Amino acid sequence: MPTSTEIDPCDFVIFGGTGDLAVRKLLPALFHRFLDGQIPASSRIIGIAREALDDAGYRAQLREALVGICDARQLDVFLEQVFYRPLDARKDEGWDDFAALIGAQPDHVRVFYLSTSPELFVDICTRLGQYKLNEGASRVVLEKPIGRDLASANQINDAVGKVFSESQTFRIDHYLGKETVQNLLVLRFGNGIFEPLWNRNYVDHVQITAAETLGVEQRAAFYETAGATRDMIQSHMLQLTSLVSMEPPAAFDATAVRNEKIKVLQSIRPFTEESIQADIVRGQYGPGSTPGNSSLLAGYRQEPGVAKDSKTETFVAAKILIDNWRWAGVPIYLRTGKRLPKRVTEIAIQFRKAPHLVFRGQDLSSNTLVLNVQPDEGISISFHAKLPGQEMKLKTVNMDFSYQKTFGGGERSAYATLLNDCMRGDATLFDRADGVEAAWALVNPILEYFESHKPKFPNYAAGTWGPREADELLERDGRHWRRL
Ligand code: BG6
Repeated sequence: MPTSTEIDPCDFVIFGGTGDLAVRKLLPALFHRFLDGQIPASSRIIGIAREALDDAGYRAQLREALVGICDARQLDVFLEQVFYRPLDARKDEGWDDFAALIGAQPDHVRVFYLSTSPELFVDICTRLGQYKLNEGASRVVLEKPIGRDLASANQINDAVGKVFSESQTFRIDHYLGKETVQNLLVLRFGNGIFEPLWNRNYVDHVQITAAETLGVEQRAAFYETAGATRDMIQSHMLQLTSLVSMEPPAAFDATAVRNEKIKVLQSIRPFTEESIQADIVRGQYGPGSTPGNSSLLAGYRQEPGVAKDSKTETFVAAKILIDNWRWAGVPIYLRTGKRLPKRVTEIAIQFRKAPHLVFRGQDLSSNTLVLNVQPDEGISISFHAKLPGQEMKLKTVNMDFSYQKTFGGGERSAYATLLNDCMRGDATLFDRADGVEAAWALVNPILEYFESHKPKFPNYAAGTWGPREADELLERDGRHWRRL
């Protein structure tokens, strides 16, 4: 029984309207909003790209891409609200016409979604400013990654800030729209029983895994310039880290939540050359096969568009330390990669063992609280129970909460949630300039180190859990990755 709210008529403009993200994620998410009655009849969705298309051509392209996942009749009604304008951010042509189109509905909320390469963010915002399209109820959404390092992120934030105020700027990280990620805040701050345990006195360590079975697919042009550190660690993984370890905010609003998240990023111990060597493992997949499927998968270097000697990392494991009173000495281990054996994203809080074991001869594991972000959204906690019978034998059991079983429905679209939020002007689940910059400041030394120290790749086979060194990272601390 998902809940939804009414929203005002809106012009939703997607720069990069023919791109992979727009077609695979944004348009289906808007279609869901339409089905929920949240795209009023006068609202317009306007795709922008350089291709010389007209409205009919764009609709036909979208129809072909979406028809498999949407009801065809409703899709046609939805597409009547979709338009297209060919524009090049770096050329004058077409901008007058575009400004007139937007100006025709002066009362509409305007959302300009920049689903393009970050190099175009400044050009597009500058144009929007020249045509005064930043005035009134206008918002700009910046897709990740914002820049490719700290310096370029600073430049983008400064230049965009000259056109759009901070309250008009929505930096999107779709992980924040995932139900279980939002539920992490509810679990922690909506219940009295967890927070007293949520600290160094009771938590041994935290493991955050974002594993994908997919390879690089058709995205080599982007991925070759990014790699897993820019693509996943700087954004999604650090977002999860800050939500799991932040202090309780005074209120559930954009300022209070984001203040607390940023404090965490600022408390993470900065990486040095020594700590990068010790605590960061990078990997790239070679040929291999996934469990249960014997067909050989290509290695990363054999994927279309990838350089034959590519040094791009498709896997990263990292140990992070947060230097504050709550978390001193509690490592947070992150791992993310492509072509791993299983698609699973989870946050596991590993509690300390009982201080004294009265049940002799029983090897008891520690209690774990797991937030399953995807695909089986839910929460489970493991504890020990007595096996029935006369002997005192213990067994680890799980108590599970499943979103699907409790609330019904499948995995929900994070983009559908976030697009709705930016149409309504709620920035709680979006990043602030200082948050993005704090995340870049953390990963910058890692990127520089990777650049100047060439790796020996490939170092893990597709369908395995990454390089051996990733296991050693935890084994050195007397721990091991959860078997997923
Ligand atoms: C994107 C990355 O931000 O997140 C992709 O660019 C990655 O490389 C994707 O595959 C993962 O998102 P999800 O929602 O499938 O976990």
